Order: sequence, then structure tokens, then C-alpha cells
Amino acid sequence: MDKFIGKWANPLDDSLLEQSARRGKQYDFDQIAEDIKEKLRFEKNDVVLDVCCGNVALTKRIAPLCKKIHGVDFSATLLKTAEKIIIEEGISNLETHLSDAMKIDELFPAGTFDKAYCYFSFQYFSPEKRELLLEKLLRVTKPGGIIFIGDIPDKTRMWSFYETKFKFYRERISHILKGKEGECDLGWWVYPQEIQAWGAKHKLNVSILKQSEKLPHAHYRFDVLIQKTN
Ligand SMILES: C[S@@+](CC[C@H](N)C(=O)[O-])C[C@H]1O[C@@H](n2cnc3c(N)ncnc32)[C@H](O)[C@@H]1O
Repeated sequence: MDKFIGKWANPLDDSLLEQSARRGKQYDFDQIAEDIKEKLRFEKNDVVLDVCCGNVALTKRIAPLCKKIHGVDFSATLLKTAEKIIIEEGISNLETHLSDAMKIDELFPAGTFDKAYCYFSFQYFSPEKRELLLEKLLRVTKPGGIIFIGDIPDKTRMWSFYETKFKFYRERISHILKGKEGECDLGWWVYPQEIQAWGAKHKLNVSILKQSEKLPHAHYRFDVLIQKTN
């Protein structure tokens, strides 16, 4: 079985939106990519990392703005779509790696990236793995570089997402009984304070960002920008 499709996402068709667990007219890759560009302000010599790049629907929109971009994902199905896009659209500076995100520090030497981001994916990492992933992202980012974690489900706003508390607890109990990963169907909810506390421990400049109201998840998700100071 694929590590993502059939486990976390059950697409109704092969569209890039369905493949990346986005269903509905509210989703627009151009709009999301514009938001990431605004946050990361890519420069033409930047070497960039997209962790959990999926089918590269967002990565391919960032690629023209930088020197080189690496996408890492553990879904063979999504990377197959990614490779098709890369060939068909002739994107020469985008390279994908079929790998668990927890191995980025084995794939890339320390201080490789000017900018690294992980979008709409942090929810699939347990609390222990989240901390480790942040450590690894920090290691592969250059001093002075920037890390962006986008579209994180905010545990302080959980009840803006679920219509009823019953719905959440039903999912929660089902995950426990079936021994499924994640605290619910969406994965894990994250307290912004968790990332702030991690940043404080490393003496990093961490900004918790409110999402633009134009984005479809603004009512229950947040973004984080981390500056690697040295
Ligand atoms: C909802 S999709 C988002 C994809 C892309 N970032 C986007 O916004 O379109 C989540 C992605 O995270 C990937 N993923 C989740 N856990 C992962 C892990 N431990 N290692 C690598 N990829 C992972 C999945 O395979 C999937 O492609």
C-alpha cells in the first residue's frame, strides 16, 4: 500500500487536488503558492527544500523563482505524478527524492538550503516526530536561512473545524481502537506554543502567523516562520 494514498487520503479521481487531500472548489494551487512566495521571498540563487512535496503541484510553481528545488516525499504514487509533471513541463531545476521526511539529514549535508518549507503536511507527524523533523530541517538549512511550516491544524481552534465534539471523539476512539496513526482522521492537532517553545530552546526567531482569510483553512490553521540565526 502507498504510504499516503489509501492511508491519509482517498482521492475520488487523479486530479492534483484530490491526490493532495484537497476536495472542493475552495482550493486553488496558484493562490496557495502565491502565499508561500510572499512568506519566503525566494531569490534566484536560492537552493530550496520542499519537504512532503506530494505531486509537486506547489513545488513546480516555486521552481521558476529559485536556482534549485528538491522535493522529498514518501508516497510513490504522488512522486510518480510528480515525475510525469517534471518531464512534461520540462522543469529542469526540480529534483524529487522518494524518502521519509525523517531522513532529510541523510539525504542532504548540513547547511544545504537557503529556504526549506513543509506545507499542509506537519499534521501527519506525531509530537515526537515533529520535534525531530524541526531539528533536521534546522540542520539542513544554512545559517541565516528560513524555514516555513504552513497550514498547521491549530489545537486551540479545533472546535472551529468540527461541527460537533462528538465527531472528533468518534474519530479519536476509532483511531485508538483500530491502532491507527494520528489522533483523528486529519492526523494531529498542534499547539502553536509547542513550536514557540522549541524555538525558544534553540534561541531561534519563531513567528506564528495567522493565515490570510482568503485561504480556505484560515479558520483553523496557522503558519510558522523560523529564522536560523547562526
Ligand atoms: C496533504 S499532502 C500535501 C502535499 C503538498 N505539500 C501540498 O501541499 O500539495 C501531504 C504529503 O505529505 C507526505 N508525507 C506525510 N508524511 C510523510 C513523511 N513522514 N515523509 C515524507 N512524506 C510524508 C504525503 O506523502 C503527502 O504527499
